[in-house]
Amino acid sequence: MRVLGIDTSCDETAAAVVEDGSRIISDVVSSQVPLHRRFGGVVPEIACRAHTENITTVVEKALADAGLAPAELDGVAVTNRPGLIGALLVGVSAGKAIALAHDLPLVGVNHIEAHIFASFLAEPEPPLPAVALVVSGGHTTLFLVRGVGDFEELGRTTDDAAGEAFDKAAAMLMLGYPGGPAIEAVAREGDRTAVKFKRPYLAPDSLDFSFSGLKTALLYHARGQDSRGRRAELLPGVSVPDAAASFQETVVDVLVRKTFLAVKRTGVRHVILGGGVAANARLRERMTAKAARLGVGLTIPEKRLCTDNAAMVAALGGRLLALGRRDDLSLDAKSRVA
Ligand code: KG4
Ligand code: ZN
Repeated sequence: MRVLGIDTSCDETAAAVVEDGSRIISDVVSSQVPLHRRFGGVVPEIACRAHTENITTVVEKALADAGLAPAELDGVAVTNRPGLIGALLVGVSAGKAIALAHDLPLVGVNHIEAHIFASFLAEPEPPLPAVALVVSGGHTTLFLVRGVGDFEELGRTTDDAAGEAFDKAAAMLMLGYPGGPAIEAVAREGDRTAVKFKRPYLAPDSLDFSFSGLKTALLYHARGQDSRGRRAELLPGVSVPDAAASFQETVVDVLVRKTFLAVKRTGVRHVILGGGVAANARLRERMTAKAARLGVGLTIPEKRLCTDNAAMVAALGGRLLALGRRDDLSLDAKSRVA
């Protein structure tokens, strides 16, 4: 079963063809980062205009790279939730048009669940049930995954997502956008024990997350408390590499501790990571070490499949279609899930 996946939920226009929910035939991602960089973040209006301009070319390239005509596909999967509403609508409309024109089954996919299914493009496929941590710019959520479309949420962030915290931290340290890769790069030169940030664990047994207090602590460290962080420049003597490394280590400590608390609580023996922050080398290293120490299995997608892409959408969508799930042309885009 060959399924075309489409994702336009944020600032990447993406299309991919995946076979049987597991083998990538083609994978095209057109990044809008250069368009948003000068604004220091994603501007929704610019994102949906760029998706409108790019979507046809990106889908055509995914089909050309796969060597397939649209009629040779077995289905279309499109991210319809959650995300920027105007951005989502572009992909949903394109997916409907292709399904209608070529009489193909259509299924709407949840972007967060698709991040989990990026791990099912890996060899060997992860066993289920598993605990999944999705850490991206919009979400930090722990799930118990029992099967395709069978997810139980165990915990989520009560304020900022981890990726959002990385982006804001990078802005405070004047490292530019997007922040995650910038923090990771400069943190390599820093001492991760230099700044003692309090770990936001919430209650000892909580599987929820909170990163806004850490963000404020970094702001006060870098720009001072008196000015409420509104100083234009860094305080004298602040080491950007040390601050970045200490910030990153704090986020990683929390993500690792809570993921393995979820493992303990559920009794499952496998962990899946997904989302842009899962591309972070320090998080990958710490998760790998902890899983090995506990004898727990771990699947982390390769880096390009951690950040937004459509192969993950086709992977989950293909499996949903195989189970008989279908949406009709009334499929709507939703900025939030429940
Ligand atoms: O999954 P994603 O591409 O989009 C969303 O669904 O949100 O995640 C983007 C987020 C951004 O906040 C970005 O700063 C973060 O992932 N990110 C990273 C790294 N690469 C991307 N965070 C930390 N380290 C990285 N290497
Ligand atoms: Zn994402």
